[in-house]
Amino acid sequence: MGIYQKAAGMLEAVETCDTSELRELQLDRLRWTLQHAYKHVPFYRQSFDSAGVHPGDLQSLEDLSRFPFTLKSDLRDNYPFGMIATPMRDVVRIHASSGTTGRPTVVAYTQNDIDMWANVMARCLRAAGVTANDLVHVAYGYGLFTGGLGAHYGAERLGCAVIPMSGGQTEKQVQLISDFRPGVIMVTPSYMLNIADEFERQGMDPRESSLRVGIFGAEPWTDSMRAEIEERMGIDALDIYGLSEVMGPGVAQECLETKDGPTIWEDLFYPEIINPETGEVLPDGEEGELVFTTLTKEAFPVIRYRTRDLTRLLPGSARTMRRMDRITGRSDDMLIIRGVNVFPSQIEERVCKHGKLAPHYQLELTRDGHMDRLTVVVEPRQDLSALTEEERKKLASELGHSIKSYIGISCHIRIEDPGTVERSQGKAKRVVDLRKG
Ligand code: DLL
Repeated sequence: MGIYQKAAGMLEAVETCDTSELRELQLDRLRWTLQHAYKHVPFYRQSFDSAGVHPGDLQSLEDLSRFPFTLKSDLRDNYPFGMIATPMRDVVRIHASSGTTGRPTVVAYTQNDIDMWANVMARCLRAAGVTANDLVHVAYGYGLFTGGLGAHYGAERLGCAVIPMSGGQTEKQVQLISDFRPGVIMVTPSYMLNIADEFERQGMDPRESSLRVGIFGAEPWTDSMRAEIEERMGIDALDIYGLSEVMGPGVAQECLETKDGPTIWEDLFYPEIINPETGEVLPDGEEGELVFTTLTKEAFPVIRYRTRDLTRLLPGSARTMRRMDRITGRSDDMLIIRGVNVFPSQIEERVCKHGKLAPHYQLELTRDGHMDRLTVVVEPRQDLSALTEEERKKLASELGHSIKSYIGISCHIRIEDPGTVERSQGKAKRVVDLRKG
């Protein structure tokens, strides 16, 4: 029990324990995880053996850097159940995440894993200011995706009443929010904006809704997007981070009192930041690729799993545990436009800052001779009256100019009619690659 006893009836004691106590707990749990993975998963045994390391070599947290990374392709190569570290009879749940190509990545949970997940999701909700008295509208998709069920179990564990709406059926989302009057919504930020539009389409002001707080994640979003959502919905918008391979939603959660980036629940997930090219571990504060080792997971331990997400580790603020900065992009959704690295989030920032553009956008990639060409497809805000050709051109040139001066690339801008840019019902599809081959 010890540090897991509830502190002052609110936070778990581990959330505010001394750093030294936390590091000791992490070291113990890392030892257990390395042994467990080595003993029960042939992939880890082979990968440790060929790197010439043994679980017994871990004497300090720093020693973890001697162990090999695990990649998404390793999980795919062991499809479907090759990475599971417990007998199948102990597995009680399977989830899978669809990749951009090929086979899905399959993950598994024992009953203890599901309990840990529900507890830490309840911790996330609590950090967002949610209490047992709240009604929680879950619009993350239910099914193989971890979003819906992950949010659901956490809200139930906290003692909330859950509305398991799932994604899609946007008109019905608005109807249920209006009729049931939830205080909390859990949804992707892009779908929240889609729901906000639907409120307006039905002649309602979304600021008048019962919603007080939104817990948004599953896709990259920016502080400008946060400002936009908070203003339009009249709510507090908080960031939740997670990925299926490590657990699902709830690996890290932003605290309501500080709103300064998600706190990583380090008693359960050990983070590192590495240089994505060399694999070298970087000091806190430096930007690189986020890598996780799970500390308690039974069915699906992961050792130094490379998330491809780019961010940096920040010191703890509302909790002892370290925070992560916003994900600036993935090392694999980076676009290179005439030699300049560009992440969709940078374009989003420019679109949101403009003032007359709606926060719905897509990036189209085409090939122009040997050059990649980027077209930003956007639309004016719904509340602007029909645009003349002249005004359309002006908007395009303003956005093009802002992208050129802040990001340093020239791109084409296509201003569509309001409502025509593809709307998200879950994770938004930001990049449409029309290059041949
Ligand atoms: O998206 C889990 C989740 C569900 C998280 C609901 C939050 C809320 P996957 O489908 O495996 O799992 O996708 C994981 O999504 O590696 C990031 O690239 C991205 N991602 C998730 N949360 C955030 C966030 C779920 N808050 C991948 N900010 C991750 C930026 C995020 N990107």
